[in-house]
Amino acid sequence: MTRKTINKYILELADLVSDKELSQALKESLVSGQGSIDKIERCFSLLPECRWSKEKLAQFLNSWQATHLKMLAIYGLSCRLQRLAMNVSPELGSHRQLMLASAYNAETSYEDLGLDYGGQTHAQLFNDLAGTLMGDYPWSLEKYCIPEAQEFSRWIYQNMVVSDIKTGLLTNMLSEIYNHAEYNIALTAFSEYIDNYHSLTVSGREKALQYPYVHVADETEVDHFLVVVRALNTYCAATESSINYVEARQLFEEYLCRVGKVMGSLTAAMEKEKDAAATTREYTGAC
Ligand SMILES: [Fe+2]
Ligand SMILES: [Fe+2]
Repeated sequence: MTRKTINKYILELADLVSDKELSQALKESLVSGQGSIDKIERCFSLLPECRWSKEKLAQFLNSWQATHLKMLAIYGLSCRLQRLAMNVSPELGSHRQLMLASAYNAETSYEDLGLDYGGQTHAQLFNDLAGTLMGDYPWSLEKYCIPEAQEFSRWIYQNMVVSDIKTGLLTNMLSEIYNHAEYNIALTAFSEYIDNYHSLTVSGREKALQYPYVHVADETEVDHFLVVVRALNTYCAATESSINYVEARQLFEEYLCRVGKVMGSLTAAMEKEKDAAATTREYTGAC
């Protein structure tokens, strides 16, 4: 069975956007971002190929998680929209629109915060996954976060909290459409890794895979993407401005390029370990 690619997931979701120019901008980014997408897919397909050392796995988990830490940035962006609204008379339509844009943007963090899930956060679910793979190994130490992932995390915060608000909303929107695709392939990769190297009970396996699974189930990231598109349109209406489609395309290209650098660097480190293990096997005759 051929697996669905990142491109396919993104194209399907881009087709749901009624703004055809925005939809087109998203699709065009994939063409120039293909090299980065290849790197990302290679990294996830490499994951189940070997039983990695704890150190390598810690690097993977910590760095990958850093590319998904944007809750503070979402909160910051919603605060900025609310602050703008508070500077406008409540009588005006733009006050309501800015408040709405803030609320739509905030909606992308409901599941992460565990609203409706008894307060169980996605951070906890990630810890469950890491705990299964790592035991007590201190994977969350900053030293396991590669520089490219740290840089990515800073870039997201800068875009959403410091740059202009439209760039912030575009960044949040792009991360949601990308995440929809990535969590789907990550779920497959982690499922295979666990099946290959861990003997778990059915409920243990389910618990370990809950983190990628919840992002895929019930189309969580699809809804997040569509609600940020709504936030962006509402913000544009409030400020009587329009979306810059060239900026949207370039930003998505940059997003893919930056994730590609993170995953490419992780792949290089993993390939190195895999090659070293193969050489040792040759010398010792072990398998
Ligand atoms: Fe999440
Ligand atoms: Fe999301």
